[in-house]
Parts: sequence; C-alpha cells; structure tokens
Amino acid sequence: MESANQLVSIGTFQVLKLPLGFIRLLEWLFAIFAFATCGGYSGQLRVSVDCQLDKASSNLSIGIDFAYPFRLHQLSFEVPLCEGRKRERLFLVGDYSSSAEFFVTIAVFAFLYSLMATIVYIFFQNKYRENNRGPFIDFIVTVVFSFMWLVSSSAWAKALSDVKMATDPDEVQDLLSACKVMTNKCGSVQEPRWSSLNTSVVFGFLNFVLWAGNIWFVFKETSWHKGGPARFAAAPPAKKGGTFDQQQAYNQDSFDQPGGYSGQGDLEQASEYSPVGGPTSYSNQM
Ligand SMILES: *[C@@H]1O[C@H](CO)[C@@H](O)[C@H](O)[C@H]1NC(C)=O
Repeated sequence: MESANQLVSIGTFQVLKLPLGFIRLLEWLFAIFAFATCGGYSGQLRVSVDCQLDKASSNLSIGIDFAYPFRLHQLSFEVPLCEGRKRERLFLVGDYSSSAEFFVTIAVFAFLYSLMATIVYIFFQNKYRENNRGPFIDFIVTVVFSFMWLVSSSAWAKALSDVKMATDPDEVQDLLSACKVMTNKCGSVQEPRWSSLNTSVVFGFLNFVLWAGNIWFVFKETSWHKGGPARFAAAPPAKKGGTFDQQQAYNQDSFDQPGGYSGQGDLEQASEYSPVGGPTSYSNQM
C-alpha cells in the first residue's frame, strides 16, 4: 500500500499499469476457462432396464446424452416397456439454460472486455488517461462485472446442483414406467462426469475475486483517488470522515468501558455493603 502510494507520487503510470495489465490478462485467461468448461460440456448417463419376465426386451445400457445449455426437458430417450417389443419415449426434467447461458454470456463479455482493456492500457495509454474518462469508465465497468460474476456464478452453481439431481441415474429411473413394475430390475450403469462443470463454477468465483480485487487497482487510476478535479474530490473526504467517525466511536467505546467497569464496581460495592447494612438495620430494630 505504501509502495503503491509512492508509485503514484512518482507519477509513473508505466510502473502502475503493470499490476492492472497483469490482472486483466489473468481475467482474460480465467474467463476463457470459465466459458470453455461450461459451454463446451457434454455428458452422458447410463441406466439399465432388466425385464425379468421378458429378457429379450431388456436393455442393460441405455445411454442418455446431454450438453450445454442444459435444456433437459427437450432431451428425449427411448426405453423398453418390458411388454413385448414396446418402447416408450421419455424426456429428462428441467430447463437450466437461463443460468448456464447467463454464466457463459458474462464470461464471454468479461473475456472481450479484459482483452480490450489490456490493449488500451498498452497501446492507448494517453487516450485512457485523457480527461480521466478512461479510468472512470474502467472503474464502473469493473464494479459491474464483479457483481455480474458473483450473481452469475451463484446462479450457475445452483443450476449445476439441480442438473446433477436431474441427471442422476437413480432419479432418471423413477421416470421409467418399466421400473415401477416390481418384476423388472433397473439400475444405474454410469453417472455423468462433473469435473469440467465443477471447474467452471470454481473459475466463476475465482473471476469474481479477481474482478473485485481489481476494483482497487482501477480505483487508484481515477481522480477520486488522486484528488483530481473538484467535482470528483468529494469522495476521499467522505471516506476519511468515515474512518474518523469509526475512530471516534472506538474512542467513545474505550471511554465507555471504564464507566461500565465503575458501574460494576458500584454494584459490587453495594453487594458488599448490604450484608453489613442488614445487620445494621437489624441492630437498629433491636
Ligand atoms: C439400448 O438402448 C440404446 C439407446 O441408449 C440403443 O442404442 C440400443 O440399440 C438399445 N439396445 C437394445 C438391445 O435394444
């Protein structure tokens, strides 16, 4: 923090742009991981239907494929009914496309913005600092993206846990008519692999941390932090006032505490007196 302030006082944006540019590159990379692991996903689950009374119609390996964007209710699959050669067409349950697409959309836009910002930092530095407009816009956009990463990652994490439920082979078996008949045996052969989607959630929250942390570095570029134009100068004093109030409150607390202690002391004293007072009043009555 001190070294950062020193850098500002030297006025070397060349040096300062390093952490900012480096974080932007990380953001760019992490955004790729986030949308690639989510948007590129396809998985498969397998269940078996063993018709005890009609072995010929059994199917011991029914594969059900699904993929991003997880419109599971549109995915149909055929399973034996265990009545001759009859089969039934079923659909998985649930539509998680809104959360998944929201997440991937944020990731793609974050990817584009961090790439663009890195280019601007490096090649259009003067334009960026002109009128302080660059840092100002950069700051607002970074705050918005941090919020969006948090919201979309949370939504996607929730949707993923729902997708896991909906594609659990044990849950899917409950949809099959044949499995409701006691004489047939249904089983789960293979669960979908989740490592890629789990990774996408982790990268979603990592991106949130990265963007939220970057708010500080972008803020340092704005004139709010540097005490630039007067119309922006209102922010830092308000912030200082906040810390001052806190300190005051803290001081008041530390002043209050002795009072609290003395109050307790009074109580103790009173309780010390009362045994004495009792006998005294008793003796007075005597
Ligand atoms: C079992 O189901 C799969 C679909 O998952 C199908 O491709 C395969 O032909 C079926 N096997 C039999 C023996 O019906």
